[in-house]
Amino acid sequence: MRANDVTRFDLDGMVALVTGGSGMIGRAVAQRMAAGGARLALADLGVPETVGGDSRGYAADLADAGHVRTLFDAVLADYGRLDCLVTAAGVTSLGSFEAITLEEWDRVHSINLRGIFLANQAAIAPMKAQGFGRIVNIGSVLAKNGGNPRPWVDVSEQARAGNAAYGAAKAGVHALTLYLAKELAAHGITANAVAPGPIASPMTTAFPEALIRQIPAGRLGQPDEVGAAVAWLCTREAAFVTGEIIDVNGGLWMD
Ligand SMILES: NC(=O)c1ccc[n+]([C@@H]2O[C@H](COP(=O)([O-])OP(=O)(O)OC[C@H]3O[C@@H](n4cnc5c(N)ncnc54)[C@H](O)[C@@H]3O)[C@@H](O)[C@H]2O)c1
Repeated sequence: MRANDVTRFDLDGMVALVTGGSGMIGRAVAQRMAAGGARLALADLGVPETVGGDSRGYAADLADAGHVRTLFDAVLADYGRLDCLVTAAGVTSLGSFEAITLEEWDRVHSINLRGIFLANQAAIAPMKAQGFGRIVNIGSVLAKNGGNPRPWVDVSEQARAGNAAYGAAKAGVHALTLYLAKELAAHGITANAVAPGPIASPMTTAFPEALIRQIPAGRLGQPDEVGAAVAWLCTREAAFVTGEIIDVNGGLWMD
C-alpha cells in the first residue's frame, strides 16, 4: 500500500445522517463515509453542500426539539431508513472559568449536550425497528483533561483555551454515550464517541509552537483522521465495539 492510499471502510448502502455537515469535522466524516459507499444526509444551520453521490443537505437548528423531529422525519421519508448517526454539530467556548456567563453556559449546553441528546433519542426508534444502528457522537479531549494544559505557566493561553462550559458539555456527551450503548446493545445498535484533540483549523493552526510540542505526535490532527475513526466505527465489522470513547489526539491525553 502506498503512503497516500486511503483505506475504504465498507459502508455500502448505509444511510448516514451527519450533523454539523457544513463544519470542518462533519465534512471530513461525510467525505470518508461517502467514499465507503454510504448515502449521506447532512444537516446544519444552513443547508450544507452535498458530498456527491446520493447525498442531500438539510437545514435544522439541532438545539431545537421541533427542528430535530422534522429533520429525522424528512431523512426517513427521503431514504426510508437510518443506519448511522454522527453528531458533529457544536460550538466552541473559550476563556477562564471565572468569566463564563450563565448565557454562555446555556448557549454551549443547548447544542453541545442537549442537541446531542435530542438527535440520539430521535435515532433510537428507526434503528431499533431495523435491528441495526451505529451512533457516533463527537466528544473532546477537553472533557477529560481540564482544558488548558498549564494555565499557571501561560495565563494568556487561557483566552484561547476551551473552557469548563465546553468541557462539561462534552463530558456529558461521553456519559450519555455509555448509557445509550448499554440500553441499545441488545438491539444491534452500537453507540460510541470519538474524542478529538486539537485538529488543524484556522483557529488551531495559530496555536503557538510550544503548545503543539505538547502533543506527543508533534503535530495537530487532520479532520480526516477523525473521519476515519468515525467511519470505522460505523462498519458492520465494528459490531462488538460499543460504549467506547475513542481518543484521536496524537497522545495528548491517554486514559
Ligand atoms: N476542531 C477541533 O479541534 C475539535 C476538537 C475536539 C472536538 N471538536 C468537536 O468536533 C465537532 C465539530 O467541530 P468542527 O471543528 O468541525 O467545528 P465547526 O465549527 O467547523 O463545525 C461545527 C458545525 O456545527 C454547526 N452548528 C452549530 N450549532 C448548530 C445548531 N444549533 N444546529 C445545527 N448546526 C449547528 C455549525 O454551523 C458548524 O457548521 C464539535 O462538536 C467540536 O466541539 C473539535
